[in-house]
Amino acid sequence: MRCRKCNRHAVLNMRQHKLALCEEHFPEWFISYTERTIRRYRMFDRDDRILVAVSGGKDSLSLWDVLLRLGYTADGLYIDLGIDGGFGYSRLSYEKVQAFVAAHPGVQLHVVNVAGLYGETIPEVASRKLRGRDKPCAVCGLIKRHEMNRVAQQEGYTVLATGHNLDDEVAVLLSNVLHWQTGYLLRQAPVLVERDGMARKVKPFCRSYEREVAAYALVQGIDYIYEECPYAVGNLTNFYKDLLARLEMESPGTKLQFYQGFLKAREEGFFCADAQGPVEMHPCPRCGQPTTVPGLCAFCRLWERDRMQMNADWNADI
Ligand code: AMP
Ligand code: FES
Ligand code: ZN
Ligand code: ZN
Repeated sequence: MRCRKCNRHAVLNMRQHKLALCEEHFPEWFISYTERTIRRYRMFDRDDRILVAVSGGKDSLSLWDVLLRLGYTADGLYIDLGIDGGFGYSRLSYEKVQAFVAAHPGVQLHVVNVAGLYGETIPEVASRKLRGRDKPCAVCGLIKRHEMNRVAQQEGYTVLATGHNLDDEVAVLLSNVLHWQTGYLLRQAPVLVERDGMARKVKPFCRSYEREVAAYALVQGIDYIYEECPYAVGNLTNFYKDLLARLEMESPGTKLQFYQGFLKAREEGFFCADAQGPVEMHPCPRCGQPTTVPGLCAFCRLWERDRMQMNADWNADI
């Protein structure tokens, strides 16, 4: 396979774009494609201060790299979840983030250590609250969202960027459609606008295939953690990803069409705002972040040790 631009050996053939590119032209194209996504969905501009949530994986580190190359002001946030999984998952992830920072002098990294701040690692707080009934992923998601928002607000960032790629977004979309989660469908977007107490959230890789991001990391020599979170192995999202990969194999472009078609339908008002009107939000009396539930938000209730265990809806607070 030859590069469309220079006829040299192509490192990646993107059947969905009918485009094959070489080691030099692929990263150029990938960076400009990301810039087009940023502009298309009005994510941010050069005046914004961006906080990139970096997990040590290929997506978030590549995103940080691309934003810096495009000349944006972008700092990093790493949340140490205290997950071991028998191979030091959180420690290894942090090492990858540190290596990236060392290779990019001048960038700033914020580090949140969940156990250091709140007294328990993710597996610890999850086993106390869930008593082994479930995996810690929902509790972990709640804590990550809360901490990302807290740091963005406290440190004066105008935008919070995550590395979610097209494969992630499409798997969530399929799940939301299969279960007709209309509330989640309404909120699933490349940009979530800022509100009182909530930073703007953006996903600049939402139109980029996972294999494109992986190829970008490889070509640019970005070292990242290959292992995924030990609790994610065998989860439903990965099952949906496998199904979607089979569809994509038969019909290249399926994922992108499914996602872009959804976004177009959203823009055209197919998913209209809640029939019952906007959801009432109020600031949590302890942390100040907006919440839909009465009293303390789901995050603050996690750390209430003495009270009766409450059945929080982990996904209610965004
Ligand atoms: P995940 O929920 O693991 O699929 O990760 C989605 C995105 O959340 C990543 O691309 C990162 O931007 C962000 N993220 C995940 N884990 C962390 C972490 N431990 N610290 C900071 N950001 C994270
Ligand atoms: Fe949070 Fe896996 S990353 S449980
Ligand atoms: Zn080329
Ligand atoms: Zn709270």
